[in-house]
Formats: sequence, structure tokens, C-alpha cells
Amino acid sequence: MLPYLFQQQLLCQKRGAGVGYPQNMAKILLVTGGAGFIGSHFVHYMLQHSDYTVRVLDALTYAGRRENLQEAEGNPRFEFLHGDVRSRETVEQAMEGVSLVAHFAAETHVDRSILYPDAFITTDVYGTFVMLEVARQKGVERFLHISTDEVYGDIEQGAFTEESPLRPNSPYAASKAGADLLARAYYRTYGLPVIIARPSNTFGPRQYPEKLIPFFTVRALQDEPLPLYGDGTQVRDWLYVEDHVRALALLLERGQVGEAYNIAGGNERQNREVARLILQILQKPESLLQSVPDRPGHDRRYALDTRKIRALGWQPQTPFEDALRETVLWYAHHPEWWEPILKEQAEYRAFIQQWYSR
Ligand code: NAD
Ligand code: DAU
Repeated sequence: MLPYLFQQQLLCQKRGAGVGYPQNMAKILLVTGGAGFIGSHFVHYMLQHSDYTVRVLDALTYAGRRENLQEAEGNPRFEFLHGDVRSRETVEQAMEGVSLVAHFAAETHVDRSILYPDAFITTDVYGTFVMLEVARQKGVERFLHISTDEVYGDIEQGAFTEESPLRPNSPYAASKAGADLLARAYYRTYGLPVIIARPSNTFGPRQYPEKLIPFFTVRALQDEPLPLYGDGTQVRDWLYVEDHVRALALLLERGQVGEAYNIAGGNERQNREVARLILQILQKPESLLQSVPDRPGHDRRYALDTRKIRALGWQPQTPFEDALRETVLWYAHHPEWWEPILKEQAEYRAFIQQWYSR
């Protein structure tokens, strides 16, 4: 039996490696959390725009869905491993022959972190530790860690730069800050070639219907009230998922190791404004807006200074209103994607019931 990497190299030679893409042909890119929202868009983007073999490692939690990767199935450069980043043995197998890592796997919903923080600590912090530790042993060439703008906490005026202190406010943000700092420490202490991305609120097709935009969209489609926390004047800076994954691909190729990069769309909007736009797109009445008790510890505003990644040549390309319309209409035209979650995932119904009846 030939060693795995050698098999891959032979395969690449058969495919004519060296013609056009001599550096990339033999490389394997490991994407953790690739069956989730942003991870699946990144997988499709990298299969289209690189010659890497893309290997997904995903535990398929409530948020991970194999069908998000449907378009990739059958592609000879795509591999799927069902497994947990908290298991060292699993991660060692997944990292066999890997040159590049993009680490998305995480528990990601702030409200769930308030109800059940445990999985956030074990996956986001400990799981990232396992990933970094195995990457160090295997000597990977680049480790792109997907952090979040929430590690900075909120800001009333101005914008956070990459040098701003980390002051997370929710259990989710705190566990992502722990992971972010571990990634930095692995660069400083062991020289692991880590690059850290800190993206803002992302939206687009295939986002699990618990986050603001997909949740309000599927509620409006069913003529259900849209529960706005508090006065609805909190501000988020929205980033379209296609712009997001282009930024990550650029960082994987050209980001400087040991550095962190903010990514944001430059689309600051109050939540109530976003909710009204969703209703307008679906031609639903504003009477569906409903004020509900605020999220404990709610961050009022996120804003990022993105000059550092723009200096590498990236900028968002999709106007917010166009991207929002496209996203909302995607949900309207794809009930087969979200209806089974609402109807068949008992776990989803239990969370919605518990959280919104607080
Ligand atoms: P998501 O919740 O849609 O997907 C998370 C994926 O990780 C799922 O496929 C899930 O099955 C997998 N996963 C969870 N625990 C795992 C484990 N223990 N082992 C292996 N796989 C596991 O998340 P998303 O919104 O696509 O976010 C992806 C990454 O981007 C996360 O790290 C998140 O913190 C970060 N991020 C998200 C946003 C956003 O607005 N969605 C913004 C900034 C940063
Ligand atoms: O900023 C990046 C982060 O954005 C990511 O790291 C997280 O993974 C992602 O979940 C997101 O966190 P937010 O808490 O900002 O996103 P969410 O969609 O949950 O909420 C957006 C805003 O809308 C926030 O101010 C809370 C508000 N909201 C949300 C929901 C679900 C409501 O008013 N009502 C709701 O029902």
C-alpha cells in the first residue's frame, strides 16, 4: 500500500500537475466545519478557484448538513470525513498529508451559548487547541483560523483595528477569544504559520435559520412575528458570504503569518432596519415586528477597520440591499432546505421554544 501523500502525488501527475499550477496540484486543504454555512461556501469556492484537494472534517452537529456540500459530491478533489475536532485521533487522521488548514468548526450561535455554554468551551476552545497541536506536529504550511469580530466586544463610536484589545461579552465570544489567543500563542511559541481572520456578521443562502436574517426570513414566510430584541437599534456590519469566502481565500494565499485580519462589508445597519427590509422584500406587513426582552449582555454595535485586508487587494463587491434580496428570495424559493429543520428537528423546536419563551 502506497503512503497516502504519495498516492495523491501520483494522482496529480496523472492529471498533468506542473502544467499551470505546479505548486497547488499536490496540496490538500483541510476544511473543518465545511458542512456548515460559511464553510460550505468556502469549500465550493476553493474547488472552483484552486487546484487543491479539499478535505472536509465535520461532526454534522445540528448546524452541519451534508446536503450543503451536494455540488461537491463526486468531484475527485473532494473528500468528506465525519468526525469531531475534539478527538485527537480523528484530527490526526484528518490531517494526514495536509498542507493547508482552514478551521471553521465551532458552535456559533450567541443565544445558544447563553443557554448551554458547555459545547462552546469544548469545541471552540479545546477543539481549536487539538487542531493547533496536531498541525504543529504535522508541520502544516498555513493554518487559517476563522475567529470573529465579537472577540473585541462592542464599540459605541469608531471601529476596532486588529490591535484593539479583546473584550468578549458572551460565552460564544469568550470561547472564540480563547481560540483566537491560542492560535496567536502557537505562532509566537512554536512558529506555527497561523493567520487569523476576524469577520463580521455574515449572511447568505444556507445559513441555519436561527441567526437574525434567515430566522426572520423563514418567520415572515410563515406569517409569524419577528422577535426584535429590546428596541432593535443595535448595529451589525453585514458581510455577504461570497465576499467573505473571497477574503478568506486571499488570506490563505497571501495573508502574512502571525497576523490577524478584520473582514467586514462596511454595511452598518440597525436590526430593525434589516427586519423592515426583509418584510418589504417579501411584501409582508410591518405589524409582524414584535419587541421582545433583550439578549442578556447584548453587544450594541460592532464596527471594524478593514484597511489591513483591503491593502492586500480585497474589497466587498456585493451591495447590501442586492445581497439581502438574493438571500431572502433564496429562502423563499428553497423551502425544501429549511422546512425539514423546522418540522423534523425536535432539537430546533426545543431551542426556539426555550429561548423565545424566556
Ligand atoms: P455554522 O454553525 O453554520 O457551522 C458550524 C459547522 O461546524 C457545522 O457544520 C458543524 O457541524 C461543525 N462543527 C461544530 N462542532 C464541531 C466539532 N466539534 N467538530 C467538527 N465539526 C463541528 O457556522 P458558520 O456560521 O458557518 O461559522 C463558521 C465559522 O465562522 C465559525 O468559526 C464562526 O465562529 C465564524 N464566524 C461566523 C460568522 C457568522 O456571521 N456566521 C461571522 C464571523 C465568524
Ligand atoms: O459578528 C459575527 C458574529 O455574528 C458571528 O461570530 C456569530 O457566529 C454570529 O452568530 C453573529 O452573532 P450575532 O449575535 O451578531 O448574530 P445574530 O444573527 O444572532 O443576531 C444579530 C443581531 O440581531 C443581534 O443584535 C441580535 C439581534 N436578534 C437576533 C435574533 C436571532 C434579534 O433582535 N432577534 C432575534 O431573534
